[in-house]
Amino acid sequence: MPDMEGNIEASDFCVGESAKCEGSRLKGLENADWGVKFRMGRIFNPESGNTVMLAFDHGYIMGPTSGLERMDLSIVPLIPHADCIMCTRGALRSVVPPNSGKPLALRFSAGSTILTELNDECLADIEDAVRLDACALAPMVAIGGTFEAKTISNLAKCVDYTSRYSIPTLGVTAVGKNLARDARYLGLATRVIAENGATFVKTYYCEEGFEKVVAGCPVPIVIAGGKKLPERDALELAYKAISAGARGVDMGRNIFQSECPRAMILAVRGVVHKGMKPDEAFEMFSDLKSDGEKAAK
Ligand code: 5RP
Repeated sequence: MPDMEGNIEASDFCVGESAKCEGSRLKGLENADWGVKFRMGRIFNPESGNTVMLAFDHGYIMGPTSGLERMDLSIVPLIPHADCIMCTRGALRSVVPPNSGKPLALRFSAGSTILTELNDECLADIEDAVRLDACALAPMVAIGGTFEAKTISNLAKCVDYTSRYSIPTLGVTAVGKNLARDARYLGLATRVIAENGATFVKTYYCEEGFEKVVAGCPVPIVIAGGKKLPERDALELAYKAISAGARGVDMGRNIFQSECPRAMILAVRGVVHKGMKPDEAFEMFSDLKSDGEKAAK
């Protein structure tokens, strides 16, 4: 009980001044719970409203992917430069220092590998996600694939779980080998994922009509980088996606398979947070890369 004697009476109510209520700058979040907004606010940079997520969850289906052979050596030094990390709970517990301080988008579905048919997955346990203080849970959703119904059902369960604990769901578009990554398909997939309750959606960029994919999705979109491209092309991909309305990248191979991953993630940040054009960002990449090479000599 505070000491009430000599207590100063509350009087500074600023009557007449309207209450300050800063809304989220992310679409679709207006009616979300405080906890969801809080966690999304950790993933997305408050100044730019965008995010650079570092994805290194590939091993759960691909095994020791190039660039991820030793995540302790290749990924851990990059973590300070990411706004959010996306990985499996196995990688998190075995490699990521608990004091890294970065919000976690936890890979939340698993069940098949490249040796069998992908996307035959189930969900992990929500209690473990709470133990790990996940800021988002990411199930795979394979629209148009053999396991469409199963992955949509996973998404629905994930949204039910995460609603209980105000953890955002990141629906991940898994595009089967025989499906075209065009605006028609991506527009359908992202919309289905959002309508099933995802808080935000990870998908791929397409050259034609990506702005329609973004506009037709009522929640924010972040893009995967996809297979490794030359650095300037990957920066251009990020630039075009952001220009078309994506709120960030959830990029893996184009960062950790780069000739200079640290320079690459910093250049991607330049595009995503500072609006750098591809040439400017590539110059930044080249300068940082050659500084690193000089320092190593
Ligand atoms: C697969 C994923 C991966 O994390 C993601 O695609 C990896 O990013 P990149 O394509 O940039 O290597 O979610 O569905």
